[in-house]
Amino acid sequence: MIDIHCHLLHEIDDGSRSMDESLKQLKLMAAGGVTQVFLTSHYFRGHYHYTRDEYLSKFNELQQEARNQLIPIELIPGFEVFLQTGIEEDIVQHQLTLGDSSYVLIESELNGLPSDFYDNVYKILRKGYKPILAHAERYVSIMTKSSEAKDLVDRNMYIQVNAGSLTGLYGDKVQRTAWRLVDSGLAHFIGSDDHVRGPYDAFFQARNMISERIDNVTAELLFKTHSNAIMNNAKIPYRYVMVQKQHRKSNHKKGFFSKIFG
Ligand SMILES: [Fe+2]
Repeated sequence: MIDIHCHLLHEIDDGSRSMDESLKQLKLMAAGGVTQVFLTSHYFRGHYHYTRDEYLSKFNELQQEARNQLIPIELIPGFEVFLQTGIEEDIVQHQLTLGDSSYVLIESELNGLPSDFYDNVYKILRKGYKPILAHAERYVSIMTKSSEAKDLVDRNMYIQVNAGSLTGLYGDKVQRTAWRLVDSGLAHFIGSDDHVRGPYDAFFQARNMISERIDNVTAELLFKTHSNAIMNNAKIPYRYVMVQKQHRKSNHKKGFFSKIFG
């Protein structure tokens, strides 16, 4: 499994408070089968004050200690970029991508997407980047308007869902929305968004839930295949599943829906 979203880098944002905390969590992740993790610290101009060099220095420090302790997990740099005016220039200047790829994990106002949201997204797209909206299920507009997520994907955005949302950590409304995104094939990645405030269970629980409730192919796509494509900077299909209503006279008598993976 690959986790593309966590705040495990110590003393950088509101995530891990010490390198010891980070190392403990990395051990739990590795023991459960996580092989690679993107350390996506918040990039929010005016709120979090650190330079790209400071990030790199913390990253190297944690990577070295994880290697010393023989923790079998690969650390990859990354950021969770808050959409602001001119953010496309920051992405270029500070290389705020996931690893060396052109994928960028972005976030915005949860209570209402600002009026310049799509303007900022388009500017990122025009620079050749591939934006992924972090924890899409937590946005009020996506919870209340079922077509909103489809609109985002139609506008060349990828969608990441938090594991904890699927397990109910953020309440019923968010949980229902998270499952709607997964069930309709609008979610491309499951991430932990782990802030090291407790054990790392939700990621594994969510993987099991998807495997049991849908199938193992979908679980593999959302926890590994798509994330692996980021590491290779390969193209990920915006639509990877079609849900088709069976014709009434169809010979297929089992169930009303079939899923075709392309
Ligand atoms: Fe996050």
